[in-house]
Amino acid sequence: MQISGLFCLLVGALFNVVTAAPAPGCPLSGSPSFTTKNPLLPNPFEFLSGAPVSSKADWSCRRQEISTLFQQYELGIKPGPPDNLQSDFQKYDNGTGGNLTLTISSGGNTISWSATVVYPNVTTGSGPYPALIALDSLTIPRPDGVAIITAFVSQFAQQDNSTSRGKGLYYELFPDNSPQAASAMMAWSWGVSRILDVLTSSTDVGIDATHVGVVGCSRWGKGSLVVAAFDERLALAIVQESGSGGTACWRLSDVENVSVNGSDTVQTAHEIVGENVWFSQEFEVFANETDGTQRLPFDHHMLAGLVAPRGLFVIDNLGYKWLSPWSSYGCMTVAREVYKALGAQQAFGYSEAANHTHCQFPVADQGGELDTYVNKYLLGQQIESNVFRTEANFTFDEAEWIDWETATLS
Ligand SMILES: *[C@@H]1O[C@H](CO)[C@@H](O)[C@H](O)[C@H]1NC(C)=O
Ligand SMILES: *[C@@H]1O[C@H](CO)[C@@H](O)[C@H](O)[C@H]1NC(C)=O
Ligand SMILES: *[C@@H]1O[C@H](CO)[C@@H](O)[C@H](O)[C@H]1NC(C)=O
Ligand SMILES: *[C@@H]1O[C@H](CO)[C@@H](O)[C@H](O)[C@H]1NC(C)=O
Ligand SMILES: *[C@@H]1O[C@H](CO)[C@@H](O)[C@H](O)[C@H]1NC(C)=O
Ligand SMILES: *[C@@H]1O[C@H](CO)[C@@H](O)[C@H](O)[C@H]1NC(C)=O
Ligand SMILES: *[C@@H]1O[C@H](CO)[C@@H](O)[C@H](O)[C@H]1NC(C)=O
Ligand SMILES: *[C@@H]1O[C@H](CO)[C@@H](O)[C@H](O)[C@H]1NC(C)=O
Ligand SMILES: *[C@@H]1O[C@H](CO)[C@@H](O)[C@H](O)[C@H]1NC(C)=O
Repeated sequence: MQISGLFCLLVGALFNVVTAAPAPGCPLSGSPSFTTKNPLLPNPFEFLSGAPVSSKADWSCRRQEISTLFQQYELGIKPGPPDNLQSDFQKYDNGTGGNLTLTISSGGNTISWSATVVYPNVTTGSGPYPALIALDSLTIPRPDGVAIITAFVSQFAQQDNSTSRGKGLYYELFPDNSPQAASAMMAWSWGVSRILDVLTSSTDVGIDATHVGVVGCSRWGKGSLVVAAFDERLALAIVQESGSGGTACWRLSDVENVSVNGSDTVQTAHEIVGENVWFSQEFEVFANETDGTQRLPFDHHMLAGLVAPRGLFVIDNLGYKWLSPWSSYGCMTVAREVYKALGAQQAFGYSEAANHTHCQFPVADQGGELDTYVNKYLLGQQIESNVFRTEANFTFDEAEWIDWETATLS
């Protein structure tokens, strides 16, 4: 193996200080009112202050407000870039890819984290290639023409069970056990952002940083939504069978849940915070309380809204009640309103297929749809993408779950 690149990125010790202060040029922010419960899905097009969101500039302010709220109350705070980031790409002798090692320092702590890169099997050209960052492993067929970068996120922030809080490389860098410390998924998001730092500042890896997506299934599906929501450099998120905590809305999952012999049938906020460390400790305040998520000024239609207007393809599976298929379909129906408001409806795809083994992508059924989003948002093809369907027989009446109208943002 040869060292084909070594570069060093120095950035200030900037932390995204998350406060209630508005971003420059944005209207004064309000504070969430936690005293009232709202069983409906909150309005993405209204600032906390009550002011309407009526232009794309307003949306960019509102987007920051929503991002801050998710960090403060659900996912934990994402720090800014590290003091120092170095990367070393060791290309394999056989030319099929390589090993990318990041050495990251912050506050006197240093960690080293590696990702693998596999180039597409092409006989012509030599890149730079578009890429998909797979969280821990790839669970869709490897798309033609796209490199696969595997980010070993569970090493970065562990998620074996509820005892995993604060374990993993990220927490060696940022030892913090406050309630708003980054959850495992927010830590993953921070790690993937560092991979993107390297891809955007160096050509050594041979990846086209403007065409990079993220993909994951199940818990990693939840993760791929979070990763894309908190890094606008990602061009596409493929969110597979993510269920509650991903593309389902907390409020809707609570409605879809019924108890069978004392056990929930659907994963709810209440269950999820006891199961694992995907969310911040702060979120437990809401999740532990009956209908406590109704006090939150957001739900996951707004998390998906943070990805807009970039590509987002959501893949669901009707076979597992636990994944809350109705909640996910309903939540994404409402999330799509954000895309519509931005004139980007085509960037949002939703496909919910009939029962199949969890995370075994049904190529015959959904392969063409997946190709459409990959071809358009990673390979840059100018094609139509209008996927929004479920193979279930249920319906979701938006009017029952929202009391606001979709803005037209110009
Ligand atoms: C190329 O080399 C890498 C690293 O040794 C190895 O993991 C990979 O399987 C090889 N690929 C092929 C197609 O030989
Ligand atoms: C990548 O490189 C690092 C650092 O040299 C090493 O620890 C790791 O095992 C390598 N990973 C692979 C998959 O080769
Ligand atoms: C790459 O493609 C060629 C021709 O299509 C095929 O023979 C070869 O097995 C492929 N290699 C890999 C590593 O998939
Ligand atoms: C939690 O995961 C750790 C690491 O895999 C394991 O050692 C431990 O037994 C698990 N604890 C429970 C309660 O399952
Ligand atoms: C799930 O539904 C059952 C029946 O309504 C209820 O007893 C249980 O508390 C629910 N679980 C959650 C977390 O809301
Ligand atoms: C619920 O409990 C009853 C009685 O023990 C049992 O017959 C039934 O199979 C259980 N249902 C489920 C879904 O576990
Ligand atoms: C939420 O409930 C769990 C399980 O009962 C408990 O361990 C945790 O401390 C609670 N968290 C908060 C913030 O109340
Ligand atoms: C899905 O398929 C599996 C195995 O084929 C079966 O056990 C399960 O009951 C099915 N689920 C539904 C909702 O039909
Ligand atoms: C939907 O309803 C049709 C007609 O009743 C039935 O054939 C089909 O199996 C149903 N699909 C699902 C996923 O339940």
